[in-house]
Amino acid sequence: MQETLIQNKTEETLFGQLDQYEHEQVVYGYDKDTGLKCIIAIHNTVLGPALGGTRIWNYNSEKEALKDVLRLSRGMTYKSAISGINLGGGKAVLIGDSRQEKYKSEKLWRSYGKVVNSLNGKYVTAEDVGTSAKEMEYIAEETEWVMGKPSYLGGSGDPSPMTAYGTYLGMKASAKKKWGNDSLEGKKVMVQGAGHVGAYLIGYLAKEGAQILVSDIYEDKIEAIAKEHKVEVIPADDVYDVDMDIYAPCALGATLNDDTIDKLKCSIISGAANNQLENEKIHGNILKERDILYAPDFLINAGGVINVYLELVGYSEERAYATTEKIYDRTLEIYARAEKDNITSHQAAIELAEERINDIAKLKAKI
Ligand SMILES: NC(=O)c1ccc[n+]([C@@H]2O[C@H](COP(=O)([O-])OP(=O)(O)OC[C@H]3O[C@@H](n4cnc5c(N)ncnc54)[C@H](O)[C@@H]3O)[C@@H](O)[C@H]2O)c1
Repeated sequence: MQETLIQNKTEETLFGQLDQYEHEQVVYGYDKDTGLKCIIAIHNTVLGPALGGTRIWNYNSEKEALKDVLRLSRGMTYKSAISGINLGGGKAVLIGDSRQEKYKSEKLWRSYGKVVNSLNGKYVTAEDVGTSAKEMEYIAEETEWVMGKPSYLGGSGDPSPMTAYGTYLGMKASAKKKWGNDSLEGKKVMVQGAGHVGAYLIGYLAKEGAQILVSDIYEDKIEAIAKEHKVEVIPADDVYDVDMDIYAPCALGATLNDDTIDKLKCSIISGAANNQLENEKIHGNILKERDILYAPDFLINAGGVINVYLELVGYSEERAYATTEKIYDRTLEIYARAEKDNITSHQAAIELAEERINDIAKLKAKI
């Protein structure tokens, strides 16, 4: 990993893309009978097996799905490395609409489980966008390499509450850095995406007395949130135009891009979505120049992977909370490093993660 920042070069060939992101392996799975079309990307296994969730999304093209899985798996490498856990980075995507019945079927998820099993533990899966403990249960029929299973199967269940907790702590650390005080009381926080993580995050924000703005593309998600908490609903297209103190992306990635970044009126960006910066270097630098504090996504949304990692090595809720709580201090440490070296917070986080990977690689070579 010589280059710390990846440009959005459009590589035309598959191996060109693997070279650009320095991946180890990509596996395609297909089953005509079940409708399975999946891609598993293994980015780096220096620290341990490549763990990362399975996302199901209605991608516009196979190229878009590949780009997503490559970016997401690389993010997992950094996420685990910076969190001090012994996992590599991987991710999987299924092409399909999770709201349609055929993409909820047992046969589909079991046929996917067979593909995961064929990797013999090099890739370990869990939940992500569009999947839940239910799908993990189907996958577990075919492979032991699945975490985040329901508790009645000995699993740690849905990782989203822990992801939300870590994201909330990262947000508080960001407030501390920006305003000298980590209270979120009265702060206007725009939560984009009221899904698994967004909903739990809103719970924490409500408890602390933040002013919550929320947006989702599905009416039922908004209704469920509005029933429980006092929120102001913002249409999905207006998110980047409203005044807010904190923007919390909790939907899909790449929302910090050429179309949105100049419009944003906020002091902090701190959310759970993976790969928020469409171009890490360009958009990271624009945020730095605009003095918008950016909490690196893979640093603050690590609660979920910490939770599922502990399932591999010995789970207890207490241990999961204690490990996730380290996100607060680590976020402050990253901001201090970025300031000292005059680099973006994202770059500072990548450097810290790479240092750990390189250190452990050297150590392993000696044994
Ligand atoms: N679940 C976890 O533990 C976890 C861990 C780390 C990172 N993440 C990341 O956090 C994000 C949310 O994950 P999740 O598990 O809550 O997924 P989810 O599918 O439960 O929720 C995502 C929500 O975003 C909404 N959405 C999609 N596009 C939108 C748009 N343009 N505007 C507003 N809302 C939109 C969806 O309707 C959905 O309600 C994802 O980027 C995911 O990769 C999740």
